[in-house]
Amino acid sequence: MNDLDSLVTQAQDLFASCTTPAELENAKALFLGKAGRITEFMKGLAQLDIEAKKTQGAVINAAKQAIEAALTQRRQALADAELDAQLKAEALDVTLPSTLRAAGGLHPVSLSLERIENIFTSMGFEVAQGPEIETDWFNFTALNTPEDHPARSMHDTFYIEGGHLLRTHTSPMQIRHAMAHVQQYQSRIDAGQGMPEIRVIAPGRTYRVDSDATHSPMFHQCEGLWIGENISFKDLKVVFTDFCKTFFENDDLVLRFRPSFFPFTEPSAEIDIQFPSGPLAGRWLEVAGSGQVHPNVVRNMGLDPEHYIGFAFGMGPDRLTMLRYGVNDLRLFFDGDLRFLSQFQ
Ligand code: DAH
Repeated sequence: MNDLDSLVTQAQDLFASCTTPAELENAKALFLGKAGRITEFMKGLAQLDIEAKKTQGAVINAAKQAIEAALTQRRQALADAELDAQLKAEALDVTLPSTLRAAGGLHPVSLSLERIENIFTSMGFEVAQGPEIETDWFNFTALNTPEDHPARSMHDTFYIEGGHLLRTHTSPMQIRHAMAHVQQYQSRIDAGQGMPEIRVIAPGRTYRVDSDATHSPMFHQCEGLWIGENISFKDLKVVFTDFCKTFFENDDLVLRFRPSFFPFTEPSAEIDIQFPSGPLAGRWLEVAGSGQVHPNVVRNMGLDPEHYIGFAFGMGPDRLTMLRYGVNDLRLFFDGDLRFLSQFQ
């Protein structure tokens, strides 16, 4: 009896002195293991008579339970200590001041593209996207610019193996979008029921071998196309004048449609604008090329030029952004200098 009491005390003391779970499990074996002290006591029962077995058995059991309880308690205490240590080691000092990270913002040209898209969608235009790696056919030939055409020399670009090139303008999107539109309504067209008008803008990146203060090898363009049964140069003037006045938030802007040449339009015009006041007042500033879509181009879209007619334009969102914010070097847009870019947030 006394032996068992002191055994329990011994176990409790030993368990308390264990500082790791492994040590504790070793200590447990001394008391509760197959060759442990409790087991020894159990074996001793065999020599006792039945009454003594009962009382002594109950006493051993009580001691065993006390030892088990001490073991469970110590196990829990060690686990708690381990968790505590881990939490302390991984503690975050939430009172430390953080490093300031500026919120990002849209690039000035992206802001312009967003403005352009909003204005044209409000006039019922769709917005289309197309590939920057183009085929010669979409970039030139379909736009009435055959291989030996001198206009190609103004569009020197980056050629890619396999006959592809980086598009020199967004005009190929006229063809791509119109072809898809015509295909969608082909059965209606064949049945003489006509098709909904094509009214689309196509903004995106374009490429040319060109680099100075006002030219960058990568630049942006936004194409516009409106084809229907009776869309004329007059509509071009209305749409583009409206666009410019809204874009520059200036109702007194003056536009000039200056005769020009593009292979894919006839007649063609360069569009110039003039601000009535401000630092640019009085100067004519070129913002877009435009014209009545050439019959050959209408044909390449899959339409009969006797029935379908319309206008197209191509403008430079980079240049529009320069004019809107008074930036005089295009390269600033593409240097990625935050001192410049953060002024547009
Ligand atoms: N693609 C021409 C260029 O990059 C711009 C242009 C002119 C587009 C007349 C047009 C247009 O759609 O009708 O120089």
